[in-house]
Amino acid sequence: MEFKNLTFEKDGKIAIVTINRPKALNALNTETFVEIGNVVDEISKDNEILVVIVTGAGRAFIAGADITEMKDMNTEGGRGFGMLGNEVLRKLENLEKPVIAAVNGFALGGGCELSMACDIRIASSKAKFGQPEVGLGITPGDGGTQRLPRIVGTGMAKELIYTAKMIDAKEAYRIGLVNKVVEPDDLMKEAKDLANSIAVNAPIAVKMCKAAINKGMQCDIDTGLSYESAVFGLCFATEDQKEGMTAFVEKRDKSFKNR
Ligand code: CAA
Repeated sequence: MEFKNLTFEKDGKIAIVTINRPKALNALNTETFVEIGNVVDEISKDNEILVVIVTGAGRAFIAGADITEMKDMNTEGGRGFGMLGNEVLRKLENLEKPVIAAVNGFALGGGCELSMACDIRIASSKAKFGQPEVGLGITPGDGGTQRLPRIVGTGMAKELIYTAKMIDAKEAYRIGLVNKVVEPDDLMKEAKDLANSIAVNAPIAVKMCKAAINKGMQCDIDTGLSYESAVFGLCFATEDQKEGMTAFVEKRDKSFKNR
């Protein structure tokens, strides 16, 4: 599949998606959202890929949704654009493979929101995060009002969203928005090391963990625990469960087959 606003490469079991729209600091226009949805579909069907890294080309991760495209939208257009963004980011969030955001620079508005639809965020020390929307006369439209409070808590999310202020990587780490801050030159190596440390494990079990955590964060604990018991049970139908436990008992290296 050909893409105009992103690149997609495979490095062993890892897929690397790089948003690349330099003239607008990788801002998300309709075309880019559609391409992200398409690349997620492609990754979803590719059984060789076990972990995904999303990053940005140049000095930005993603500087938000495209303001030039949004400027003259009416209510219907704005709602449609927001729905497209939410649909695409939800698809990314629900992808049955872990996704790491390697945040190299500006992650503002839709960029911060895209990073929050990923499972784990690692930031370069040059990264900047923020939800600047109220300064533009709009609300966050790609899940910021929903995911940010779930990640950093309501008070901190409200402060960031109401003030539209930008925070640096250190502050993002302090409030729990990112897992780790690394030197810019080390960002992709750190992201790949993390991806590889996930990829060595049983893929179906990892996939089930993602589903259980995502589901459990949105429901009461009893429903979440019963979901966990169900996926725990399902793992016993996999070859990889037999392999993982047999290898342990036989004191040998395991070899998972994603089956
Ligand atoms: N949309 C469209 N174009 C953008 C853009 C965006 N979100 N962000 C940057 N650009 C463009 C600039 O217009 C500029 O284009 P020209 O060279 O043609 O003038 C180019 O990218 C470089 O940007 P700057 O010259 O502004 O670079 P800078 O280093 O001075 O500033 C910045 C960088 C602080 C990120 C600044 O560009 C900025 O504030 N961008 C907008 C950030 C923003 O408000 N994002 C939220 C958008 S709303 C949203 O995302 C809603 C939602 O939830 C769905």
